[in-house]
Amino acid sequence: MLRTNPPAHTRLRALVSKAFTPRTVAHLRPLVTSQADALLDAALEKGEVDLIEAFARPLPLRVICTLLGVPPEDEETFGAWGMALSRGLDPDYLLTAAELAQRAEATRGFAAYFTELIAQRRAAPSDDLLSRLVTVQEQGDSLTESEMLETCVLLLVAGYETTINLVANGVLALLRNPGQLSLLRADPALTVSAVDEMLRYDPPVHWAGRVALEDTTLAGHRFAAGDGIVIVIGSAHRDPEAYPDPDRFDVTRFTGSAPATRHIAFGFGIHYCLGAALAKMEAEIMLTALLRRVRNLALTTDRLTYRPHLLARGLETLPVRLSA
Ligand code: HEM
Repeated sequence: MLRTNPPAHTRLRALVSKAFTPRTVAHLRPLVTSQADALLDAALEKGEVDLIEAFARPLPLRVICTLLGVPPEDEETFGAWGMALSRGLDPDYLLTAAELAQRAEATRGFAAYFTELIAQRRAAPSDDLLSRLVTVQEQGDSLTESEMLETCVLLLVAGYETTINLVANGVLALLRNPGQLSLLRADPALTVSAVDEMLRYDPPVHWAGRVALEDTTLAGHRFAAGDGIVIVIGSAHRDPEAYPDPDRFDVTRFTGSAPATRHIAFGFGIHYCLGAALAKMEAEIMLTALLRRVRNLALTTDRLTYRPHLLARGLETLPVRLSA
């Protein structure tokens, strides 16, 4: 879907959107709420954790597995495939031999696992997204076996690591801007705007690619038909013409009668992120729970490192001390 143009894109997107609806997202709310609380209980008990391992990672993993009908006992295997496939989105020349091997292994493992799961859902549909993908029909059309497999890969790769990074990058921005953290604590109604600001300030996906379909000139640059174009989202988000004082993290930026220019963290146009509402719902619930349950939250080190990745921007770990 991500790499097709109309009419192929229109057809695929219509079929998948018919299965992945706002109701699908709404049904996941109770799960996200209870998971967030359970993970915070365990983290508070420990007092010092890597917030990614303890909170930001397991929740989006549970959500994507629930969506696709993967049982909890297979979650960790599935998560490891997700990371390997996502790492594998970068150009091959940036990947180590081990990363290339992990990607190949994940591709094989994923295909075998989902071929089986799709067959099971075909025989006995349940109420998960996979069952709806198997049965969805649009004007007599349906998804082929390989389209279904590719859609499952896309949902995992597009929806797992990105959501981890939104939550972890966002919490880091709050910890580095204590005034903004206090503002948000004092007025939880700012959470929606805060999540948008997190997406603008430190976007989980840093670029998107396009190919010029015809000779064209954009902002004074000439592109010939067939040229590749890299749209650097992280850079657009620091454009002072679009966002006043763009290097300032401001949780109120997206409130008020004249909210700031919308961000492009979820892309734009026909490929606009299909999971945007789900990702925002997860982040809003997680952030609300974190601020409600955790009174004291502090980094235990200033030396943070980022995972090697050109496309996704995410921390290796987020070590914190926390108490209720
Ligand atoms: C914070 C989390 C997320 C971010 C930052 C994000 C970002 C993006 C971006 C930038 C695109 C457009 C790429 C392009 O135009 O080339 C996109 C597309 C897409 N995303 Fe997300 N995404 C997130 C979460 C999710 C989730 C949770 C799902 C589903 C479970 C998802 C599914 C998709 C799909 C299917 C597309 C392709 C749409 C199309 O090609 O028509 N994303 N996402």
